[in-house]
Amino acid sequence: MFNTLFSKPVRPMPSVVEMDIQSLDMDKIPQHIAIIMDGNGRWAKAQGKVRTQGHKAGAETLKTIVKAADKLGIKAITAYAFSTENWKRPVTEVHFIMELLSRYLTSEIQEFRENNVQVRFMGSREGLPDIVSRKMDHAIKETENDTGIILNLAINYGGQAEILHAVRSIARQVADGTLNVEDIDASVFEDNLYSKGLPSPDLMIRTGGDLRVSNFLLWQIAYSEIWTTPVFWPDFTPAMLVEAIRVYQKRERRFGGLIQK
Ligand code: IPE
Ligand code: IPE
Ligand code: MG
Repeated sequence: MFNTLFSKPVRPMPSVVEMDIQSLDMDKIPQHIAIIMDGNGRWAKAQGKVRTQGHKAGAETLKTIVKAADKLGIKAITAYAFSTENWKRPVTEVHFIMELLSRYLTSEIQEFRENNVQVRFMGSREGLPDIVSRKMDHAIKETENDTGIILNLAINYGGQAEILHAVRSIARQVADGTLNVEDIDASVFEDNLYSKGLPSPDLMIRTGGDLRVSNFLLWQIAYSEIWTTPVFWPDFTPAMLVEAIRVYQKRERRFGGLIQK
């Protein structure tokens, strides 16, 4: 799965004026980037706007960043849009986010198609408004044959919930006799995660200045490189994405081993 997904030839890179790609090693572009898009509310507050305006601005930023990432040759972006803990927020904010998602999934499908973006989701459908769930199915179907960047949206996602979901699914397979306990390994476990078919993120970016994981991709980020910025998500730019990748390229990824020098 991994190989078939990522063995497609990288499309030739169009000139990207707003990104200083000269500073990058194009042979070491991270394949999969995870983003904790944080700081929408604080961005709005700083502008004298209501928090929800920050979510609206953040949705625009995501479009820009996905396009820039595709141009850089990144194969997949997993973006944290709504966590299992975000239901604790005031009902008006939650409603706004659900409506924004619903509208976004309709208004952007055409643009995703034009840009060859394949849309996927991770998270639980339980508790989501039916209309959002239906539009998610529609977006998957409409873009499933797109061969460009994968936009994997984490909606009603929590790393702990995902692990529990995988454990239950594996336990069911053991109980009905289709899986032996001895055969449960990392690969079997990964096949039962929402991220099935996607490699682990090479790089995880968090905007908004907080230095925590907030229940994002707990299994998958075991060896991801982490880059954070105090910049609020609506202000995040393609140039900042390039900077994150530039820093990533200087890191030495050892995966617990040693690098011979
Ligand atoms: C991230 O921005 C978006 C969601 C969690 C839905 P926030 O809404 O968390 O913004 P801050 O962190 O409060 O500024
Ligand atoms: C993480 O941000 C979730 C998303 C970006 C969707 P939060 O704002 O929910 O995280 P905490 O509460 O600061 O840890
Ligand atoms: Mg936040």
